[in-house]
Amino acid sequence: MTYDASRTFGRNLNKRCWAVVICLVIGITICNFFEPYILNFKFLAGDNLNLQTGITKERIEAHHQPCSGIKERSSLVCELTRKKGDFCDMKGDLRILGNSSTIFMVSNEGENLKTWEDSWHIKPYARKEDSIAMGRVRTIRVRKTEVSKGSPICSRNYNNPAVLFSTGGYTRNHFHTFADILIPLYLTSIEFQGEVRFLITDMRPLWIEKHQDVLLKLSNYQLIDIDQEKEILCFPRIILGLKATDKELGINASQSSYTMKEFRQFLRNTYSLKKQSAIRLPQGVKGKRLRLLLVSRKKTRRLLNEGEVAVMAEGLGFDVLVEGLDSFESNTPELATEPRVAQLVNSVDVLLGVHGAGLANMVFLPENAVVIQIVPLGEMEWMARTFFEEPARDMNLRHLEYRISPDESTITQQFPEILKEAEAVKKKGWRAFRTVFMDKQDINVNISRFRNTLLKAYAMLES
Ligand SMILES: *[C@@H]1O[C@H](CO)[C@@H](O)[C@H](O)[C@H]1NC(C)=O
Ligand SMILES: *[C@@H]1O[C@H](CO)[C@@H](O)[C@H](O)[C@H]1NC(C)=O
Ligand SMILES: *[C@@H]1O[C@H](CO)[C@@H](O)[C@H](O)[C@H]1NC(C)=O
Repeated sequence: MTYDASRTFGRNLNKRCWAVVICLVIGITICNFFEPYILNFKFLAGDNLNLQTGITKERIEAHHQPCSGIKERSSLVCELTRKKGDFCDMKGDLRILGNSSTIFMVSNEGENLKTWEDSWHIKPYARKEDSIAMGRVRTIRVRKTEVSKGSPICSRNYNNPAVLFSTGGYTRNHFHTFADILIPLYLTSIEFQGEVRFLITDMRPLWIEKHQDVLLKLSNYQLIDIDQEKEILCFPRIILGLKATDKELGINASQSSYTMKEFRQFLRNTYSLKKQSAIRLPQGVKGKRLRLLLVSRKKTRRLLNEGEVAVMAEGLGFDVLVEGLDSFESNTPELATEPRVAQLVNSVDVLLGVHGAGLANMVFLPENAVVIQIVPLGEMEWMARTFFEEPARDMNLRHLEYRISPDESTITQQFPEILKEAEAVKKKGWRAFRTVFMDKQDINVNISRFRNTLLKAYAMLES
């Protein structure tokens, strides 16, 4: 008998093959058997979202990793705990029937991505506690379905992820444009470096046109108005809603790894803004001029003696520009485009205005510039601080507050008893408060008192 090395080797190889096959069979069996347990659930208790069945959950994470490794991994992460807005990040086989505002999450045979419900819905706009804003936002429904159960057939397939958001809500207002959409959109989509599709609901063409530079910087593709879309669009990933953090006109560092510094740098790149830092005047040098932009409001909370303020500021060493920036409907035509507004605001060292949306243009200011906020009557200190002062500080800007006294407000002439009744008005709710204090109040600043605030701003810019 001869020793046949090759046959022995062959037999051993065969044995090994069998071993591998048996292991695989056992592996697949275990895998299938335990499949439900491979799903990774994470519920954080809470009661913010009303689901169809009335079950309430604030956050869900569900992942499904198919054993074979061939199929796409499906996953769902929904963040429903934040104050401003909800969002769901979905991966897998996603099919949108745009004109009926429905996303189908399709699972393959045997794959069952357990979520907390078979169907749920989100309004993709970041102002969820405000019923007026949310009343202008379409509801997007997500439905789980299986391939075998007649899921819709894709008419167009995309390889890129998509971000779905609404331009309804308060987008006529510049503050809300940044706080509710542009900052959250940046946080949601910058990681894709342009390789992302924007799906818009409640499309406002004028808004899109006004902010097209930002949109084009974030996405390399034409955006899709899904309300008009009759075909079935299919994506491997959809983020429904925007990742807004708990912070007004800013970014909460505990909820995002991006910073306002980065967002502002992004705006500077987008609009080719040249001025990185506000001017620093050498101390004691006379005759140096600073640029000051006075945000002129045309309808409510007007600064009635704008002209007098401008003359006084000129006398103190400011070159004064007066422009209406509060909402784009009332912009002067030559300034109507966002690049012009961005460049104008970036060119100044001081931004001055009565509490209102126009001050949100501070996002374009150079570092260390000064924001002067005139705060009307009506215990608006909290609003002044939350909506503009804290954001300004987070943007590395200086902030000065000028609280008016009763004799600088027109409201005391109209309603002599108003200050005594302020508490009662507040108790009637936001609308009553808004009508009286936000809409019926104009301001005449006391020039000699206001002068001190301007002198402070000037001193801040001296190094
Ligand atoms: C959506 O488009 C389809 C295909 O044209 C049409 O049959 C359907 O009625 C539309 N649905 C809505 C809600 O407009
Ligand atoms: C930022 O987020 C943290 C954690 O979610 C929260 O506790 C904090 O209040 C937030 N900050 C603001 C200004 O809302
Ligand atoms: C303006 O303010 C100054 C200083 O606070 C005060 O003395 C003066 O009476 C005020 N003028 C008017 C018209 O109220």
